[in-house]
Amino acid sequence: MDLSHKVAIVTGGASGIGIGTGKTLAENGASVILCDRNESLAQDAATILQNENLPVTSMHVDVKNQSSITETVEQVIKEFGTIDIVVNNAGVPGAPGWEKAFPARQEDWDFTFEINVRGVALVIEAVAPHMVEKKSGKIVNIASVAGRQGHPNFPHYSTSKAAVINLTQAYALGLAPHNINVNAICPGLVWTPLWESIGLRAKTAESQMSELSAREVFDTRIEALIPLKREQTPQDIGNTIAFLVSDRARNITGQAINVDGGLRMN
Ligand SMILES: NC(=O)c1ccc[n+]([C@@H]2O[C@H](COP(=O)([O-])OP(=O)(O)OC[C@H]3O[C@@H](n4cnc5c(N)ncnc54)[C@H](O)[C@@H]3O)[C@@H](O)[C@H]2O)c1
Repeated sequence: MDLSHKVAIVTGGASGIGIGTGKTLAENGASVILCDRNESLAQDAATILQNENLPVTSMHVDVKNQSSITETVEQVIKEFGTIDIVVNNAGVPGAPGWEKAFPARQEDWDFTFEINVRGVALVIEAVAPHMVEKKSGKIVNIASVAGRQGHPNFPHYSTSKAAVINLTQAYALGLAPHNINVNAICPGLVWTPLWESIGLRAKTAESQMSELSAREVFDTRIEALIPLKREQTPQDIGNTIAFLVSDRARNITGQAINVDGGLRMN
């Protein structure tokens, strides 16, 4: 994919899928800004990629906070001149302590919806005027296979991800007249700090999982659920995003693409 001369921001860029996505976009030529509420972790991630000679930097953003988003978008445009690509990847599985709080508490619903849903919409609203003005842009929202099928261990999270698929369609329709593509990816099972937290939740919610480590829960799920019998990686997600934001995908918009080893086929 040729993404040279493109400027990309990746929210939640300090960890897991965000780092994998930033690396893949940079390997394809984009200048990447890893934006995260954890600024020092984002800086560390950017340094690791810079040491691989990749054009990656970091910035602070808290997608819960509209003025933080506006500041970050303005700062990127000031420093880099434009924003061509936005990957809305920042996401949480629940409020702090959610692993052991079963069923979900009010704060789990509020926290996931503020970050996973409203955060995505606020970032799109912040970058859209700039993309509309230049009549081009690519936006990819990270949903989840949990958005395809509700999950009893985390209804608040799976519902938030279903909402991401729906808001992707809404913004794809609204921004299509301005030559802006908006798509979603539904990752399957990717071993990251977020999935470790889902594994700990399974130990609380399912008695047959209680003796396993979070990693063993993950491996059990891969074996039981994934037709291709292997885990998905941040690079798998990054590769699909690199395609979606390239010119080769110019006529793809409003779609949610499963990258999940065949777990969901809808
Ligand atoms: N890991 C999986 O199996 C999986 C599967 C499906 C979907 N997803 C989705 O992929 C995305 C990335 O997940 P991951 O597994 O890499 O998680 P992760 O926990 O490794 O990374 C998430 C990042 O988001 C950042 N973040 C959280 N709240 C933020 C905020 N308010 N503002 C800015 N940054 C914030 C965190 O600091 C962290 O760096 C999430 O949206 C998640 O729901 C993950």
